[in-house]
Amino acid sequence: MHRIFTNIQHLILSLILASLIVSTQGKNAEPLEVIIGGSSNQLSEAPVAEPVEGSLEPLIFADLRLAVVYPIILKFKKIINSDPLGITKSWVGADICNYTGFYCTSPPDNCSAIALASIDFNGFRLSAPTLDGFLDQLPDLALFHANSNNFSGTVSADISKLPYLYELDISNNQFSGPFPTAVLGMNSLSFLDIRFNFFTGSVPPQLFTQAFDAIFLNNNNFMQRLPENIGNTRAFYLTLANNKFFGPIPRGLFRAMASLTEVLLLDNLLTGCLPYELGFLKEAVVFDAGNNQLTGPIPFSLGCLKKVEVLNFAGNYLYGMVPEVVCALGNLANLSLSDNYFTTVGPICWNLIKKGVLDVRKNCIAGLPFQRSVWECAHFFARPRYCPYWATFTYIPCWLPHFKSPPLAASESAPSPS
Ligand SMILES: *[C@@H]1O[C@H](CO)[C@@H](O)[C@H](O)[C@H]1NC(C)=O
Ligand SMILES: *[C@@H]1O[C@H](CO)[C@@H](O)[C@H](O)[C@H]1NC(C)=O
Ligand SMILES: *[C@@H]1O[C@H](CO)[C@@H](O)[C@H](O)[C@H]1NC(C)=O
Ligand SMILES: *[C@@H]1O[C@H](CO)[C@@H](O)[C@H](O)[C@H]1NC(C)=O
Repeated sequence: MHRIFTNIQHLILSLILASLIVSTQGKNAEPLEVIIGGSSNQLSEAPVAEPVEGSLEPLIFADLRLAVVYPIILKFKKIINSDPLGITKSWVGADICNYTGFYCTSPPDNCSAIALASIDFNGFRLSAPTLDGFLDQLPDLALFHANSNNFSGTVSADISKLPYLYELDISNNQFSGPFPTAVLGMNSLSFLDIRFNFFTGSVPPQLFTQAFDAIFLNNNNFMQRLPENIGNTRAFYLTLANNKFFGPIPRGLFRAMASLTEVLLLDNLLTGCLPYELGFLKEAVVFDAGNNQLTGPIPFSLGCLKKVEVLNFAGNYLYGMVPEVVCALGNLANLSLSDNYFTTVGPICWNLIKKGVLDVRKNCIAGLPFQRSVWECAHFFARPRYCPYWATFTYIPCWLPHFKSPPLAASESAPSPS
């Protein structure tokens, strides 16, 4: 009698404990099965409830800072509505630093503490309606990388309170709304990647006065004139591609010459002539302004971009001669000028065509295959075409042993190699 009672008592106790576990651990049904099976076979002396009691003991965290973020992670875990790779299965227990995607280290303000310093969810394909209440509540976070997930909503203004956030990558998600202005006040932030989302509206000019190393805004729906102060940026990477930026490329862009290495402006609605000041971007390795509505000749000054490897102006309304001084650039691996209205190439450029470096298909170059029809070219040139500061287009603002700027009289002919 006593034994049976104990057994029933045990079973009830186990069920209570099991339901507690179910309610604290979500859909994990395994402990429930183990406990019920165990208590029906074994009698009172069997330590059936032990694993259950063990998990009900207060969690022991390696540091108070981890105890603080634990409930925040649990709360976020509950709003994740799709986890095809089973990432969150590892998000249990007190050892937060061992959760998949979570990394700990000492925070800058206390080298004997352990804190959640970095999150890397890249490629996890998690879905959640928002990051609010999670990202903005992790005070020691330095890196947040969540490329290629299915997070949506807007970016909470509260992220500006994260004192150490250094890299923010939420690219390739479903974020929408205006530019996340919270990033503007954050002095620690140096890497901003919000590519491939649905952000709209305009980009605040302060973005270009803040000390970012990298600004990736491409593939959103930003729609505005390219900000005049864009040249104030100290970034190495500036990608504005695949938006709806319009207006001319600001002449002041050259002020970014000390740093700017990669500039992607392709697939926008940019108009106007290329400013010769682009030739001052002496660190540029990639300059891509393909598929816009740019017009005018290519400034000879681009022959000063000694480090450039990729130059893309394909799909614009550029015309004139392809400057020999540009084709002579030593590191050039890809010069894309297809789908424009160029009329002449010199011998150095000819050589690049043969090597497959220069693509001038779909232009107006007599004697070359794959050109526009005579009618199409005549139609284009029937309209008078003019760029301001005409004389600057043939001006070479650097010393090159084989090229000289022609006299300042405007001329469309390239200087001949000596
Ligand atoms: C960390 O997690 C892995 C599985 O994700 C587990 O095998 C390992 O024992 C855990 N380490 C610690 C210290 O908890
Ligand atoms: C630094 O962190 C350790 C471990 O969490 C803690 O014991 C100590 O009190 C902290 N020191 C300060 C100055 O906050
Ligand atoms: C992404 O989330 C949206 C809702 O936010 C949902 O409709 C869609 O199916 C999700 N896609 C994937 C691949 O999980
Ligand atoms: C050169 O660049 C253009 C435009 O970005 C690209 O479409 C093309 O594939 C590149 N060519 C080579 C040979 O890499």
